[in-house]
Amino acid sequence: MSVLDVIRSRREITSFINKKIPNELLGEIVDAAYYAPSGNNLLSREFVVIEDREKLDHLEKTTPFMKWMSSAQAAIVITGRPDVSKYWLQDASIACAFIWLTAADLGVGVGFGAVYHSEDAEESRVRETHVREALNIPADRRVVAVLGLGFPAENPKEKKMLDRDETVFYGGFGEV
Ligand SMILES: Cc1cc2nc3c(=O)[nH]c(=O)nc-3n(C[C@H](O)[C@H](O)[C@H](O)COP(=O)(O)O)c2cc1C
Repeated sequence: MSVLDVIRSRREITSFINKKIPNELLGEIVDAAYYAPSGNNLLSREFVVIEDREKLDHLEKTTPFMKWMSSAQAAIVITGRPDVSKYWLQDASIACAFIWLTAADLGVGVGFGAVYHSEDAEESRVRETHVREALNIPADRRVVAVLGLGFPAENPKEKKMLDRDETVFYGGFGEV
């Protein structure tokens, strides 16, 4: 598929079949993270790959919005280093996108578990600590997201989009 075809067809998958992801596919998905760009090439993001069932079940409880992790066959935890780059959040985020698109291209579904957020420092701390302690993630790393992976057990319904002219402007904001 072309990159644009992958982008157009990619969806979030929240239910997975009980089939291990072959190492070769998982390796390609990890490559997508490894080669993702970062601001000033300051490589402020790191990745922790998990396949152990007990750890996946622990990750499922990171937030109330990751129930799909109970059927995921693997997870990739994306961490960021504010000490390395002021763009750590963008660096981690674009790596998430690269992972997601590569997985979709390979027929592997992804559930996105947001962990860090900027609205409530205490809630973010609790969520991050849940992941950090289980996986020995150092205190200076921020836990941005946990992506759950597996072969899809669902075909998501069409989603609602804003009209293009409410989202894309040409020449200035609000100009269509
Ligand atoms: C920044 C961000 C945070 C998200 N957090 C969660 C989450 O915590 N739990 C979840 O199930 N999905 C999460 N999602 C997935 C979105 O809900 C999903 O991508 C959105 O509904 C659009 O659906 P689609 O991915 O099928 O296009 C997140 C996605 C993004 C980009």
